[in-house]
Amino acid sequence: MRILLHRADGKTEPWIKDFGKYLPEAEVEIWHAGEKNQACDYAVVWSPPEAMLPELAQVKAIFVTGAGVDAILKFSDAIPAHIPIIRLEDAGMGMQMAEYVTHSVLRYYRRLDEYEAQARAGQWLPLPQHHKEDFAIGVMGMGVLGTRVLEALAPFGFPLRGWSRTQKAMPGVQCFHGEDGLDTFLRGTRVLVCMLPLTPDTNNIMSRTNMCKLPQGAFLINVARGAHLAEPDLVTLIKSGHIAAATLDVFRNEPLPLQHPFWQEPRITITPHISALTLRRESVVQVTEKIRKFAQGEQVAGVVDRNRGY
Ligand code: NAP
Ligand code: GLV
Repeated sequence: MRILLHRADGKTEPWIKDFGKYLPEAEVEIWHAGEKNQACDYAVVWSPPEAMLPELAQVKAIFVTGAGVDAILKFSDAIPAHIPIIRLEDAGMGMQMAEYVTHSVLRYYRRLDEYEAQARAGQWLPLPQHHKEDFAIGVMGMGVLGTRVLEALAPFGFPLRGWSRTQKAMPGVQCFHGEDGLDTFLRGTRVLVCMLPLTPDTNNIMSRTNMCKLPQGAFLINVARGAHLAEPDLVTLIKSGHIAAATLDVFRNEPLPLQHPFWQEPRITITPHISALTLRRESVVQVTEKIRKFAQGEQVAGVVDRNRGY
């Protein structure tokens, strides 16, 4: 069995070592632009370069070392439809998302962002507490990661809401779905958490119009993709006070350019796309299990539906 591996960061050795440990029957070949590769059975990629497409079109299955597949689906037309594109499901990302989102929610609820600013100014000033009943958290995207985040938030007693494409039921969570459910979902959400895949339907979902449906003084947490958010409109709505603050892990251009207005806005917290990192060992273990199942002709979970876009 031969695996074609591409790592944009060039750090291939630890991956080869882990595949050697968990899938010893596989030979791992590193993809290099302009070099002729031997025919491979499977490809393991994250955001493949366009030059890799001829090789990707020859394998039996493509494994993506991430949860989101927007970076590979932009080349969907060049990858024959019979080749499954299989993404990571959780693989240690659920816990990381739970940590990141819970931290961000509690930071706003307990006004720790304001106390940080006060402390920098040498100010000792207790602020009125927020009330939990006014602090409904709405998670857009109730998939593998969104569900994990809702579970993590449950013990704190906030009103919880979720929005998905298809109808869902989750204990303790008020569920909304589809375009018809979006308005009501947004109007009752104080902290909006975006955990959606980026598709033509979800692109720019945090538009000015949709952000204006949130109550005055709402908070935004985007851990999905930068293109979900109308970036200039967020700055306007923060300046007007409609949005109180935002925590953003993802941006339309990454790394976020130094001249971007977000850097100048103290009510925007910026992190460099780290809310849930691909964990190498967990990923290799999951890809190994899926390759073994696939090779046996068994059903594999995480196959991307190219029509849906996730
Ligand atoms: P997932 O399991 O595929 O879940 C996607 C969820 O979004 C599903 O609940 C789906 O609804 C919902 N959805 C999709 N299109 C929709 C639409 N048009 N309207 C309403 N709901 C819609 O994905 P996941 O594993 O949870 O990952 C979610 C995203 O997180 C990834 O795509 C990626 O962009 C992002 N991510 C970011 C990082 C980071 O470090 N920042 C790390 C990992 C992942 P149904 O359940 O009805 O299908
Ligand atoms: C990271 O952003 C991922 O989609 O896994």
